[in-house]
Amino acid sequence: MSKSLKIVRTVKDLRKQVGKWRADGKSVALVPTMGALHDGHLGLVKLAKKKADRVVVSIFVNPTQFAPTEDLSRYPRDEAGDLEKLGGVGADLLWAPSVEEMYPDGFSTAIVAGSAAEGLEGAIRPQHFGGVATVCCKLFSQVSPDVAIFGEKDYQQLIVLRQMVRDLNLPLKLIAAPTKRAADGLAMSSRNAYLTEAERAIAPSLFAVLSELAADVSEGADLAAGIANAKRKLLASGFSSVDYVEVRDAETLAAVDRADTAPLRVLAAVRLGKTRLIDNVAV
Ligand code: PAF
Repeated sequence: MSKSLKIVRTVKDLRKQVGKWRADGKSVALVPTMGALHDGHLGLVKLAKKKADRVVVSIFVNPTQFAPTEDLSRYPRDEAGDLEKLGGVGADLLWAPSVEEMYPDGFSTAIVAGSAAEGLEGAIRPQHFGGVATVCCKLFSQVSPDVAIFGEKDYQQLIVLRQMVRDLNLPLKLIAAPTKRAADGLAMSSRNAYLTEAERAIAPSLFAVLSELAADVSEGADLAAGIANAKRKLLASGFSSVDYVEVRDAETLAAVDRADTAPLRVLAAVRLGKTRLIDNVAV
């Protein structure tokens, strides 16, 4: 049953509402999103409902995390559809600021993302994590949630934000939710909407190849040979190019060699026509 959802568009109104909940002794969870919501996001909201009394979902397509060459202008937007979906899963408040509300005239402060932002996405999208960290720091300050929920789909983002929360002593807990996948294994992502039918048929091979690499690594395969093999398989499956396939320390994202015993994570980014897909799998 869909319940009607309150929307706030100014920091003042947001704080008024959250302040009322706080005065009533309610705990608050935040689910930060850029909208175009899919089942993966709705899973984050359902998890948030288990972790706190009230759930705020933010929808803000954050310009500072897109490079000028990236897809900011064509990023999918569907506020009416998002509202309907959020009502259906019982979110309490939609925080939907304008760009001017988030970055008023004269705004000039930014977070420098830490070591977890080096390499992987950070190498291909140099300004991305600074933009993500800055907007999330603002969202945490605006909503002041007890917990914030992030999907493991954007694994490096999760680790970068964990590092920021720890380093800056931010008073909230980050909770990670496993990646939601289509039946054929494709990780749910708003950018999947860009795929043509033919590309959509190729896309699940990313998860299949990463899962095979993770299994090989857990059985002691040579990392460099395993990664080279995975890249060959991705190209043979039909991906246009491979930005990276890497195996990293799952907690810090530090580079590892075979001798490492820490929990590991396989991470990759590929291009399929005009679309860039990322995914990751635990070893
Ligand atoms: O993962 C996303 O959708 C965005 O990077 C986030 C965390 C909402 C920040 O803009």
